[in-house]
Amino acid sequence: MEEGSREAGLRAMAETMKTHACGALRTKDVGLTVRLAGWVQRRRDHGGLIFVDLRDREGIVQVVINPETVGPEQFKVAESLRNEYVVTVLGEVVRRLPGMENPNLATGEIEVVAKELEILNTSAPPPFPIDARVDVDESLRLRYRYLDLRRPELQRNLALRHRVAQTIRKVLDEMGFYEIETPMLTRSTPEGARDYLVPSRVHPGSFYALPQSPQLFKQILMVAGYERYFQIARCFRDEDLRADRQPEFTQLDLEMSFVDEEDVMAVIEEVVARVFREAKGVDVPRPFPRLTYDEAVNRYGSDKPDLRYGLPLVDVSDVVKGSGFRVFSAAVEAGGVVKGINAGQGSGGWPRREIDQLGEAAQREGAKGLAWIVYGRGEPRSPIAKFLTPEELEAVGRAMEAKEGDLLLFVADRREVANEVLGRLRRLLAAKLGLVDPEAYAFCWVVDWPLLEWDEERRRYVAMHHPFTSPKPEDLDRLESDPASVRARAYDLVLNGYELGGGSIRIHRRDVQERLFRALGIGAEEAQEKFGFLLEAFSYGAPPHGGIALGLDRLVMLLAGGDSLRDVIAFPKTQRAQCLMTDAPAPVEPAQLRELSLRVDPEAAAAVRRP
Ligand code: AMO
Ligand code: AMP
Repeated sequence: MEEGSREAGLRAMAETMKTHACGALRTKDVGLTVRLAGWVQRRRDHGGLIFVDLRDREGIVQVVINPETVGPEQFKVAESLRNEYVVTVLGEVVRRLPGMENPNLATGEIEVVAKELEILNTSAPPPFPIDARVDVDESLRLRYRYLDLRRPELQRNLALRHRVAQTIRKVLDEMGFYEIETPMLTRSTPEGARDYLVPSRVHPGSFYALPQSPQLFKQILMVAGYERYFQIARCFRDEDLRADRQPEFTQLDLEMSFVDEEDVMAVIEEVVARVFREAKGVDVPRPFPRLTYDEAVNRYGSDKPDLRYGLPLVDVSDVVKGSGFRVFSAAVEAGGVVKGINAGQGSGGWPRREIDQLGEAAQREGAKGLAWIVYGRGEPRSPIAKFLTPEELEAVGRAMEAKEGDLLLFVADRREVANEVLGRLRRLLAAKLGLVDPEAYAFCWVVDWPLLEWDEERRRYVAMHHPFTSPKPEDLDRLESDPASVRARAYDLVLNGYELGGGSIRIHRRDVQERLFRALGIGAEEAQEKFGFLLEAFSYGAPPHGGIALGLDRLVMLLAGGDSLRDVIAFPKTQRAQCLMTDAPAPVEPAQLRELSLRVDPEAAAAVRRP
C-alpha cells in the first residue's frame, strides 16, 4: 500500500488528534514526536510509571506515562484510565530498553513516552475483553457487535473483505465490465428459496420481493446491449440457515454477452487468482481442474468435492455381485451398487470401537450398515471376510489399491445413498487422518450438470440451477423424451469442499425457453405472468449470453481461514435470522400495519413470541 500518501491523508484529516496509527509505529519512527488516538486496551501501574496499551485499527502500542514528563495533574488523569476509554496522546517514539522488547507485538521494539494525555471519552466496563485470546459466547458478541468488531480478528477479516472487493472492482474494470446496480424492491425471481416480501402501501395487497439474486435484471442488461456487467450485489433468501448460509448475503454477480462457458470461466479464474495474490499473497495454480458432475458425485460422493485430499470412492459392484455376502449381492441385484473407501495409512490398526463409530456415523447418514475389512494376507480382520472367497478379496483389494493393513469400508445401497454416505464418510476420514491442509486451496470446476432433477414432493421436474440455464445443444432432442439425461451448460466453482459460485450459459431464444418451461410443467399462462417481461425482452434481439455469481462472503471466509460467515460480515444474523444488536425482526406499530392494509394473525405471533 502507498504508505506515504496514506500517512499524509491521516495528517490532513486529523492534524490535531492523530498523526500516526498506533499499530503502525516501528523502529524507523524512533525520535519522532507523534500524536496518537485510540482505545485503552490495558493500563498497568508499575512503581510510579503507568503503561497504557493503546489500540487502534492497526494494532497496539505501549505508551509510557512518567509523572516527571507529564506533570502530576496529567499523571492523575492517567491513573483514572480504564479499559476502552478513548484517549489522545502526544509523545515521542523511543526504542525500548534492551530486554524489554515484546516479540508478540508488531510495535514491540518501541514505545511512546507521553508528554500530554487527554481523555476524549470514557467507557462503561465492556461485557467482555477486547482480546483475540478470550473465547466469548457468540450471542454476547453479536449483541455488542461494535465491541466485537474492535477485536483484532474481525478487524483483520473486514480489512481483508475490503481488499477483496477493491481487487474485484479493479480487475473487472480492466476487463471492460460495467458496475451496474439493480433494484432491491423487485418481483420475486425464481431462485428456488423463499422470498422476503415487502408490502406496498400504494398498492394494498401487493408485495415487492427482495432479490434472491439479480438474475433476471442482468440478463435484461445483456438484451439492452451492455455486454459485460458486474455487481457486488446483496441477495436475500429466506431459507434454513447453516454456518455457510446467511439470509442476506453478497454475491459477485456478473454476466457477459457473445461468450461461451470457456470465456466466463477464464474471467473468473483471473479474478480469483488476482484476489488470492493481492489479498493473501498466494499464487493459485491455473487452469483450475475440471470434473463432470458425474465424476464428482461418483468419485467423491459430492457435487462440491474437497480436492485437498484423495480418499476416492471405488465401485466394487462388479467384483462382489456374485458374492456369498447377501448384503452385497442383493444390493447389486436390486440395481444398486457396492462402493468403498480405502482409509489407508495404517487405519487397519484402529480399535474396534473407532470402526464402530464410523459405522454409526454411516447409519446416521442413511446407510443400512457399514461393512469393513482390514486388508492383508492370511486371515483378514473383518466381520464379512468369511463370506468372500480369497479371489474376491484379492480383486476388491486390487480395485481399491489396498496395501497390507489398510481399512476398507463399504456401503451397499442405491447409488445415490452409497455416494452420499461415503461422501460424508470421506470428509470424516480426512479429518480423522489429518489429511486436511488448512493452508491449501484446491479449486475445481464442476461441469456438465444435469439440467433437471426430479422433485418427489411436487411430482415434476425442476431446474437444477434455474429455468434460464441453457441445455447442451447436443442433448436438446431428448428434452421431452428423456428429460433426466439432458445436460446443462452450467458450471460451479468449488473451493475446499464449498460451493463458491455457480452460473451458466443462458437460453437466449424464446422457442427454447418455452420448451423448457413446458418440460418444467410451467404453463404458458404462468410463464407469462411470472417472466412475461423477460420473454418479451427476448423477442427483441437477445444476444447469446451467460454469467456466474460467486458467494463473496464464502470467498472471504475461506481466505480468512474461518468456517463461519458471521466472522466476515460486519452485522450478521443468527441461525434464527435475527440481529441481536438491533433486535430485528421486531413487531411494528398497529398504525404502520393499517397503512399497509395488513393484519397479523395474533395466534401465529403469540406462538413464536420471544421470551
Ligand atoms: P446461486 O444460487 O448458486 O446462483 O448462488 C451463487 C453463490 O452465492 C452463494 N450463496 C450464499 N452465500 C451465503 N448465504 C446464502 N444463503 C447463499 N446462497 C448462495 C454461494 C453460491 O454459489 N443467479 C445465480 C447465478 C448465475 O446463474 O449467474 C445464483 O444466484 O456461494
Ligand atoms: P448383518 O448381516 O446385518 O449382521 O451385517 C453384517 C455386516 O454388514 C455389518 O458390519 C453391517 O454393518 C454390514 N452391513 C449391513 N448392511 C449393509 C449395507 N447395506 N452396506 C454395507 N454394509 C452393510
